[in-house]
Amino acid sequence: MPAVIVTRKARLEDVEPLYIMIADYASRGIMLPRSRQVLERQIADFVVAEVDDVVVGCGSLCRLGEELVEIRSLGISEGHKGRGLGSMLVDQLIEEARNQKIPKVMALTYEVSFFLKNGFTVVEKDIFPEKVWTDCVNCAKQQCCDEIAVLKILD
Ligand SMILES: CC(C)(COP(=O)(O)OP(=O)(O)OC[C@H]1O[C@@H](n2cnc3c(N)ncnc32)[C@H](O)[C@@H]1OP(=O)(O)O)[C@@H](O)C(=O)NCCC(=O)NCCS
Repeated sequence: MPAVIVTRKARLEDVEPLYIMIADYASRGIMLPRSRQVLERQIADFVVAEVDDVVVGCGSLCRLGEELVEIRSLGISEGHKGRGLGSMLVDQLIEEARNQKIPKVMALTYEVSFFLKNGFTVVEKDIFPEKVWTDCVNCAKQQCCDEIAVLKILD
């Protein structure tokens, strides 16, 4: 039987799988860690991807102003990459931004090709407001950030 793939808004019972997935990426320097308490508080900002009822991917939107949101904590578990799930989550987060009438969606990433395929363009980091960098105080690489900024302007 083909796998049943679903993307949906996260719920409180997703906190534990989200915590484990994000902690794993954080241990490899790919994401910033999120505590269970933070995830509980921010669960409404998260979306998840499920394969056969198991959470295998996540992403979140962080509002940075009237006109700008950032995609954060986007990741798909090993073994499930390359099946379109990451793009489905990005589509869902973009839909959410549209619903909130926010015209600009950005991300800081190492996965530039993936974001280009999803309609983003590479931009200079310094076009973004100070608020973008508040999360960076928690990052070991804050003095030598090598992530690339990407932006999508919604019609
Ligand atoms: C980036 C990530 C979310 C992509 O998820 P995914 O489910 O594997 O991506 P998709 O299957 O939706 O890929 C969509 C397209 O992007 C391409 N793509 C995905 N990852 C890519 C990569 N690393 N390099 C080049 N192309 C890539 C795919 O080939 C696909 O192209 P196609 O439409 O021509 O077939 C996933 O690889 C991941 O979890 N990476 C580690 C965490 C991370 O870096 N997250 C980004 C933080 S902002």
